[in-house]
Amino acid sequence: MKIISSPEKMKAFVAETKAQGKTVALVPTMGALHEGHLSLIDKAKSIADVVVVSVFVNPTQFGPNEDFDKYPRQLEEDASKCEARGAEAVFAPAVSDIYAPDASTYVVEEQISANLCGKSRPKHFRGVTTVVAILFNIVKPDFAVFGEKDAQQISVIKRMVRDLFMDVEIVSSPIVRDENGLALSSRNKYLDTVERVGAARVHRALLEGKRLSDEGCTNIDRIKALVINSVTNAKTRVIYVEIVDAETSLPVNEAIKGKTRISIAVWFGQTRLIDNILL
Ligand code: PAF
Repeated sequence: MKIISSPEKMKAFVAETKAQGKTVALVPTMGALHEGHLSLIDKAKSIADVVVVSVFVNPTQFGPNEDFDKYPRQLEEDASKCEARGAEAVFAPAVSDIYAPDASTYVVEEQISANLCGKSRPKHFRGVTTVVAILFNIVKPDFAVFGEKDAQQISVIKRMVRDLFMDVEIVSSPIVRDENGLALSSRNKYLDTVERVGAARVHRALLEGKRLSDEGCTNIDRIKALVINSVTNAKTRVIYVEIVDAETSLPVNEAIKGKTRISIAVWFGQTRLIDNILL
């Protein structure tokens, strides 16, 4: 497996691969790979001939007081995991390889990004769409695989791909959870063992909301209130609970109809967790 840091070398690797008539799937990540990411590699391998995993902690998607500096970085360990899972290349550029010092161009999706996480992290999705567009321009993948834990991110990226006629198919892959139900996330590294067990209340609260919906309740306020009550305790502060359209992630404000999901973000102590469940 190749580890490539230069965008030019990455372009050359993909050009060579495509010249052999092979398809390419990209798995974009910020590293600190866990079983959730590795399941994306499995998915990528099932749909394309060659899998490229990008590992890049993208500064433009972090706010000024967020965890960019402390975000876990462990390239060697990540690369061995990718190799063991059968990826053909890891693309791990430096920040200076991706952003010129005077870079001044961004890709902005303005509708979906304004809701949910976009409200509490104002420039987050602008950073995501910008770096994903850059990665697509470098890797030119036929497919790109993203995890459904970040369902709003998938909706934003699908909208960008549609609106800008980008030649890539966006593929999503189910959330992977630990034995207590906590959705796997690189940020779980901030939690100690006891906190990890406690953080599973986020998933339990979503299950409560789904149970009420399965019983036939279509009243959004009742479902949201149940989820909020179930998750809130001394350690957990709700950032949002919303019922959203499953495809667009736009909030549904009247009675539930069609395919929807409950999306949640909470502060669990100092750690920001997000999760969702399909209704
Ligand atoms: O989901 C992530 O890890 C990041 O937002 C992504 C898509 C790799 C862009 O930096």
